Amino acid sequence: MPLITPRTVYLNGAFLTENEARISIFDRGFLFGDGIYEVTAVLGGKLIDSPYHMRRLERSVREIGGHLPVSTDDIVAAEKKLIEANDLTEGLVYVQYTRGAEDRNFNYSEDLLPTLVMFTQAKTLEHVAAVEKGLKVMIVPDQRWERRDIKSICLLPQVLAKRMASAEGCDEAWLVEDGFITEGASSTAYIVTEFGKIITRGNSNATLPGCTRLAVLQLAQERGLDVEQRAFTPQEAMTAREACLTSASNFVLPITMIDGSPVGHGKPGPIFRRLRELYMENARKTAV
Ligand code: PDD
Repeated sequence: MPLITPRTVYLNGAFLTENEARISIFDRGFLFGDGIYEVTAVLGGKLIDSPYHMRRLERSVREIGGHLPVSTDDIVAAEKKLIEANDLTEGLVYVQYTRGAEDRNFNYSEDLLPTLVMFTQAKTLEHVAAVEKGLKVMIVPDQRWERRDIKSICLLPQVLAKRMASAEGCDEAWLVEDGFITEGASSTAYIVTEFGKIITRGNSNATLPGCTRLAVLQLAQERGLDVEQRAFTPQEAMTAREACLTSASNFVLPITMIDGSPVGHGKPGPIFRRLRELYMENARKTAV
């Protein structure tokens, strides 16, 4: 058996090995899913889109009436320390905030000490086969709550949607509600029309405001690419010229199959390539 060095993780201000870190069974995150999370990509040992992720973390925590126990500067400093301690060059840093631990009660005490956890996870993000091969998507009903703008740790609908997609040999589930795609189970959804226009849904409570989306749309607009923010239907997606997704854990990836039908010519298209190239260039430039 190869010797696997336990990772260094962060728990409430302490840097511990993953075997030492313990949280209470009474933690409200565990009992109620009463918490928030963020996932930030690491490339070349640096954080990608970090200010966007910190801004969204602050907003999510505020929206559930919580308080971060440390500043976002402290969180970024801890993330950097974990990257260094774990020798992470490529992968993800996960941050989870929960309201804290107390006897099980739907109503929470205002003076609880929140639980803040961070850990790294190695993952190849840049040179992945999907860039050339494309991903397969399955369309499934969106069964989530109505505040999807909050990055809640309650992910059971997404877990089940992903499992349905995976059982059909698909990589991602596109969620549909009232006849329109909201987003992917863990990514933002895009199509490209026959005229080369990039379509993605506008931000609202129906979707998570993606940090990768924010960066990609800014770059697309700066470079004069045609973008329209509106909801689109599964039918439009099936007849689109291209489709793609964005997320911190995938950057920009092409979708070449939706519900068993090829998208366009069934190969990654030029708009996807342009978006990935623009994003990767900017990600490296702005990494911290
Ligand atoms: N998920 N929509 C949903 C529902 C998501 O869970 C995610 C990210 C996104 C893309 O957001 P961003 O570009 O900020 O990563 C959109 C993360 C990666 C996860 O849950 O692992």
